[in-house]
This record gives sequence, C-alpha cells and structure tokens, in this order.
Amino acid sequence: MKSDAPHRLASRIAVAALCLAFIACETPDIPPEAPPPSASGGLFAVDDARLRAADPKSWLSHGGSYAEQRYSALDGIREDNVGRLGLAWSFDLQSDRGVEGTPLVADGVLYATGPWSVLHALDAATGEHLWTYDPEVPRSYARSICCGVVNRGAALYGDKVFIGTLDGRLVAVDRRSGKLAWSTSTVEGDRPYSITGAPRVVEGKVIIGNAGADLGVRGYVSAYDAETGELAWRTYTVPGNPALGFESPAMERAAATWTGEWWKAGGGGTVWDALAYDPELRLLYVGSGNGTPHVRWLRSPGGGDNLYLASILALRPDTGELVWHYQTTPAETWDYTATQHMLLADLEIDGRLRKVIMQAPKNGFFFVVDRETGEFISAEPFTEVSWASHVGPDGRPVEVDVDYRSQAKFMRPSPYGAHSWPPMSFHPKTGLVYFPVRNMGSIYAMDAGWEYTPGDWNTGLAMSAFENFGSDADGGRWEAFLLAWDPVAQREVWRVPHVTAFNGGTLSVGEDLLFEGTADGRFVAYRASDGTPLWESPVGTGVMAAPVTYEIDGEQYVAVAAGWGASFALSGGEAALKAGVRGGGRVLAWKLDGDAVVPPGRPPLGPVPAPTYQVEASSAERRRGMLLYQGKCSTCHGPGAIGGGSGVPDLRYLVAGQHALFEETVLRGLHSANGMPRFDDLLDAEEVRGIQSWVLEQAQRGHDATRE
Ligand code: HEC
Repeated sequence: MKSDAPHRLASRIAVAALCLAFIACETPDIPPEAPPPSASGGLFAVDDARLRAADPKSWLSHGGSYAEQRYSALDGIREDNVGRLGLAWSFDLQSDRGVEGTPLVADGVLYATGPWSVLHALDAATGEHLWTYDPEVPRSYARSICCGVVNRGAALYGDKVFIGTLDGRLVAVDRRSGKLAWSTSTVEGDRPYSITGAPRVVEGKVIIGNAGADLGVRGYVSAYDAETGELAWRTYTVPGNPALGFESPAMERAAATWTGEWWKAGGGGTVWDALAYDPELRLLYVGSGNGTPHVRWLRSPGGGDNLYLASILALRPDTGELVWHYQTTPAETWDYTATQHMLLADLEIDGRLRKVIMQAPKNGFFFVVDRETGEFISAEPFTEVSWASHVGPDGRPVEVDVDYRSQAKFMRPSPYGAHSWPPMSFHPKTGLVYFPVRNMGSIYAMDAGWEYTPGDWNTGLAMSAFENFGSDADGGRWEAFLLAWDPVAQREVWRVPHVTAFNGGTLSVGEDLLFEGTADGRFVAYRASDGTPLWESPVGTGVMAAPVTYEIDGEQYVAVAAGWGASFALSGGEAALKAGVRGGGRVLAWKLDGDAVVPPGRPPLGPVPAPTYQVEASSAERRRGMLLYQGKCSTCHGPGAIGGGSGVPDLRYLVAGQHALFEETVLRGLHSANGMPRFDDLLDAEEVRGIQSWVLEQAQRGHDATRE
C-alpha cells in the first residue's frame, strides 16, 4: 500500500461501498487519479457512463473503449523520453501455454487472464499479486479446442469481473475478493463449444460468443444479465434445421442461402472474438466465423452464400435482433473468419464524414463499411490474395479459380489468415490503422469422403495434401510484417518486417507513438507516423497479445501479457520455431526509469537427439500414421512432428521411456491431466503404432538435419 494513502483510501472505500450498494449510481465518482489499489477497497463501480467515458488513465474494456480503437491519449511517455522506459514489474503466469489476453486496469488493479482461463488481479503499480480465480477447466477439454488453451481477456461491470472459460462457462467474479459470484454454461447440447474471446458489457448485459466451428457447432452470440447471470437473449449466426422452425426472420432469410443438411455438422459461424458497440446508434457489432465443415461443396452442396458465415452483424443490444449484415467472404471455404478485430471511427471519405466500422479479416482485404447502415464503402487487399481478384463496387469479392474439389490448390491467405485475432489499433493523430500481417498460403484439398464425426475435427480438408509439408511443393514462400494502413485511401503507408508470423496486437498512444510485441520476444515502440523504431526491450518469450497503457499517481505504464504458444506455435512447425523463443507466460509493465529486470526466457531445446526406440510398422502403416497424425495431432504437436516452441512437447525429443508409454499416453490418457487428450474413441492400437513409427522417422530426420 502507498504511504500517502490511508486517509484518502478510507474515504474512497466509503464512497465505493455506497456506489457498489447502489449499482445505478448516476454519475460514478471517478477519482481524479486512480486510487491506490487494495484487495479490500478503492474500487469504484464500473457503470455504463464510465465505460462510455473510457478514461485514458484506466483500461476498462477489452478494446480500451466501446469503439475498440486501442488508442490512449496519455502523453507521459513520448517520443522524447520513450528511451527511458524500463521494466516496472513482471508477474509470472506460471504456465508454458499461449498467452493472448489484453489486461484490464481499473482503480489501480490490473486484471490479466492466462492459459486455461485463469484470472489474476494484480496491483497495477507494483505487480503485487492480489488474488487468482481459477475456473478449473477440465484438462481433457483440450481436445475440443482448436487453437490452444488460450483466453483473450475479461470484462468489468459494477463490482464484478467476467471471463469466459475454455469449457464454455461464463463466470462472474467479485472484484474485491476474487470469489465466484455466478457461473452459467453457454454450451448447447454436448457439442464442442469453447470460449476463448473476451466478453463485453453493454447496457448491463454481458455479451459473449463461442468457438468450435472447426470441430462442428452452430454459432451464436449470447447476452446475460450482469447482475444475475440470467440469459437475456441468444442470436444464432447460421440457421438450424428448417424442419424445427426458425428462431427469427433473419434465420429464415439465411436458410434460403444454404442447401443440403448443413445443420447436422452445425454449420459453424462461431463468434469467437471480435465485438464492438456504438452507444449512440445503439448497435452491437459481432464478427462471425468460418463454416463447418470448411469445404463449401461438402457443407452446402447446392451452393449459396451461407449467411451469416464470415460476416459483420449489427444487432440491437436489448433483443439481439439483426439490423444489418455484411458478409466479408460469401460461401467461405478457406477458414476465412470475420471474427477479427472490428474498430469504429468517424472518417472523412470523399468529403463526407462517415461513421465506419473497419476490419482486416483473415481473407486479406481491409474492409470499410458504414456502421449505421451496413453499406459497403471500400475494400482493398493488404497483402497477397489469390482467392479473389478484388471486391466489386457492390461489396462482393470477385473469386478467381477457387475450386479445389478435384485438384488440390495452393492459395493465399492460409487458414491462419492474413491477419487474425491480434488486435489492431487506430491512431487518430495519424489516421492510420496498425496490425500484424502474415503473407502465407496453404494447400486446400477436399476430402470427398468426409462425414461428420462427433469429437473430431470436421474441416472436410484432405490431410494427404500435407504430405509434402515444408517442401517447396507447398509454395513455402512467406513473410510477416507490422503494417500501417490508411483506411481512407485504402493503401499501405509503411511496414516493418517481422522475424516470423503471429506477432502481437498494437497500441496507439499520445501524439505519435505505437507499441507492439513480437513473436521473437521483443517489445518495441515505434514512431506511429513513419514506423521508425524508437525503443525496445526483450520480453523472454513471444508476444502475441496487445499492450495496454494506464496512469497511476501521475506515472504512465505500458503493460503486455506475453507467452509464446497457441495456434501458430502449436501448428506452425519450422516457421514457428524461427521465433527462437519458448513458452513462459508473464505480464510485464514498463514506465519511465523503471529498473526491474526482465526474467530470462526458457533456453532453446538444442539439437534433436538420435531416437533410441523402435516399433514394428510397415511403410503403409507409417504412411497412414502420418495422415492420422496430421489430422489429429499436428494441431498441438506441429506438422512434421516439429514443435514450434509452444508449451506442448516436440515429439521428436521423446526419450525411450516416453516412447514405451506412447500407447498408454494416446489411447488411455496417461497425461490427460496435463492436457494430452485420449483418443481411444478415434484410434486403435495399430494406428497409434503407425503414428509412433512415423514420429520416430521424423525424429531421425530431425537428428540427421542438425548434424548436417
Ligand atoms: C489438444 C492438444 C493435443 C493434441 C491434439 C495431442 N496432444 Fe499429445 N500432448 C499434449 C500435451 C499438452 C502434452 C504434454 C502433457 C504433459 O505435460 O504431461 C502432450 C504429450 C504427448 C506425448 C508425450 C507424453 C510424455 O510421455 O510426456 C505424446 C507421446 C503425445 N502427446 C502424443 C500425441 C499424439 C500421437 C497425438 C495425436 C493422436 C497427440 N499427442 C495429440 C497435447 C496434445
């Protein structure tokens, strides 16, 4: 506790207690500067007025404000002193798994989420631990999660902090005590729904979507009463079985754009990340995801746009009613979600001030849409795109030669997307939008024999296409960079190359500053107008999440949650290994003249040892093992059995003792308590032997390569 505090703090506790007792406090007593933190007091109710005002000294909601601009007007840290930044504190998240969360900061307390949906409250000035809430997600649930056991953040309202959990619960925790206030399941039936995204609170309702479209679910977004946890409304993004009737006219209209029996696999369209809100228009914006299966010819064999997949949806916040939609990828068939960050701003376009919503989704085009009407304004590719030549004046992308039914096709972007969830930021002083881009392609091939299989991935993509993964045959040329984009002129202004893909989201600050963490373990300040690097610090692990900034006792802090892992580190193989970092989650905060020491990262694994174990398997069994591995194991252990430095083991390094227990591990869940799922419902002993034999071959190959 700060020395100047006791008296001030006592009166603040009294005010806070009043405010918390009467949640509807008209004008919240926002302290002129954030009060000193305390586990027992100093917390002021976060209400609609406070969320709307978005005081730059705090970071009250995921995107910094309802408009999700991730811009702060604080100017304690500027170009002329940014070189004096030093670490103020760091906090160990005690996990090697991927970290994607944006912290929140209110009343001197920083709320950070880590792997397995664990929530921590820290003193934002010192990093001192106040409390941890662990929702104890069953580790066996890992198999129902596509892209790592991640969480992207929390929401604040009243006296509570809200998180979604990997197993699909929405949880409210008391901000003072860290104790559970209420918990509700958002999951329908026994489908593999999960939650990785951050909730938002709009007009007293907690808004949350789900993930799961790669495995097979029907997407929706739900609103819960923040006080009680009661479901207020649920809006589906894709139609269900028409024979059961439609939930709304919007669903009936959508069903006319689908064919076949799409509902059996769920249809997809999950709302796994982006949300935004315009309190004046009273519109809630929701980004929807890819289809289940990914392959359109299997999902909807008679064609159709498959509304509302890969769309921006504008909803009424009190009822969830659909007001307008804009589909970024009609009939998507490449995993091109529109769940990426949506950012609201008022821009002068062709001499007119337009209220716009902006998105740079996976499909590689930067979209500017009128957020009042849904009218398309403009779209241009922000990197190489091979699936469409351009977006027409009617707002519809013009596809080129996309049919991969009879022959595999190499196309850009890859299912990772040209840009995915790492948040963008908008700098009102430069008028530019900043985000990390990967120019990568992938082979797309259809598995003509695909059938919906509960509990498995249901993409409809043929794994045989990945046989030559990593060789030139898959068109391996790729690059990644930080991009500054002019959304009015729809053109690139500058770029800074990155070492590898999956770099951090961005934060725009003050007059001309921009912050971004990198996959290769650095935290960097740039001049926002031209991309000149001004300062950097090592982080000790890869950064994927976006930073935040806040002020306490007149001092400005910049904080980020770091930790290499999750989708790309898990499944990016050699490309991910290029980052040269490993997992080791931590939250770090810098301030001027900070003198704390950045904790060192985990050392690299070193050369692949020669395998000393053998299993009997024919070459046909081994080849089948490779295909099974690509379909069921590569999403966590990497393609080619090459781990990307994530917290999941690189199987090439297994020692004989671990190989002796391979079958026990894979079929009977020997390590399920640590997130290694059991597969006895999908694999038999012979198939596991085939996988093991192929893994050993990869280990030998890796060993030979390091000796060359
Ligand atoms: C959802 C992610 C995930 C998937 C999918 C997955 N694994 Fe794992 N696996 C893990 C994790 C996490 C561990 C580390 C467990 C631990 O720390 O004990 C692991 C560990 C292992 C180990 C080493 C256990 C030891 O002895 O330490 C083997 C072998 C293994 N996995 C094989 C496989 C095979 C084969 C597949 C596909 C059939 C597969 N895994 C799919 C997450 C996954």
